[in-house]
Amino acid sequence: MERSLSMELVRVTEAAALASARWMGKGRKEEADQAATEAMRDVFDTIPMKGTVVIGEGEMDEAPMLYIGERLGNGFGPRVDVAVDPLEGTNIVANGEWNALAVLGVADKGHLLHAPDMYMDKIAVGPEAVGKIDINAPVAENLAAVAKAKNKDVEDVVVAILRRERHKRIIEEVRAAGARIKLMGDGDVAAAINTAFEDTGVDMLLGSGGAPEGVLAAIGLKCLGGEIQGKLLPQNEEELARCKKMGIEDVDRVLYMNDLVTGDDAIFAATGVTDGELLKGVQYKGSKGTTQSLVMRAKSGTVRFIDGKHSLTKKPDLVIR
Ligand code: FBP
Repeated sequence: MERSLSMELVRVTEAAALASARWMGKGRKEEADQAATEAMRDVFDTIPMKGTVVIGEGEMDEAPMLYIGERLGNGFGPRVDVAVDPLEGTNIVANGEWNALAVLGVADKGHLLHAPDMYMDKIAVGPEAVGKIDINAPVAENLAAVAKAKNKDVEDVVVAILRRERHKRIIEEVRAAGARIKLMGDGDVAAAINTAFEDTGVDMLLGSGGAPEGVLAAIGLKCLGGEIQGKLLPQNEEELARCKKMGIEDVDRVLYMNDLVTGDDAIFAATGVTDGELLKGVQYKGSKGTTQSLVMRAKSGTVRFIDGKHSLTKKPDLVIR
């Protein structure tokens, strides 16, 4: 992939964030998602690549835009697989809460797991704890391993977990081990990425969320030198059949970094829609909008934070300061 592709791709997430943040706090998640999707779709066609959506808004017959299999890009440049979540955290935006992102990932063709839209059990950590976690190990063991790797006490370890009934047991186990929890309403991609940045105060992500979000998090963590492990959690016969169709015979099989994103190259771009620990959300004033984005490439290891100032009366473009 071209080096310059990452700088181009951030324009896509910026446009999605600028469009959907207009719906922040308005209680209308569908509208927020649609605005992000349309804006993202528009900008993609200006990007020099031959892309195919492998993780998107749904199957061809369920999504008018950014559906799985849809071609993206201006038809010149590298052949790539694209994973998109124009608005990761639709409820977050509707309720004006934390950590909604416009997010995408790109890798060479055939290098991304075509994760079906079902749950995935996940454990994610930043670079210091890579190689120390095991999704099959008891929670207390993982907490102890992360604490040791990060040279802190278990009491100082903070775990991000989605606030869901299904996580009751993990929450009890984390608390019993003495660690602390950041419960979140939505948004486990942001939580996984946050584990790789000391200042966010998040050491680990635990629990189940969307499998597509698991692949997006894996792309981000590959760029950051972190780690996520996942296990698909089919909820019925149909989902089980989907796993088998994609070649995952044993659904208990652990999906490691290289199963989720193969090889050593991938690009990740995200723009904050609402404020989070890592990225500020969109702010508007008159005809101006500001964004904060993170764009990274695994091959070079470059991690860039980009502040954008946009004229909302013209077509959104990128101004780096
Ligand atoms: P949406 O943006 O599609 O609403 O997803 C938000 C999210 O919280 C993800 O971050 C997470 O992976 C998934 O939903 C969890 O699913 P559920 O809400 O069914 O527990």
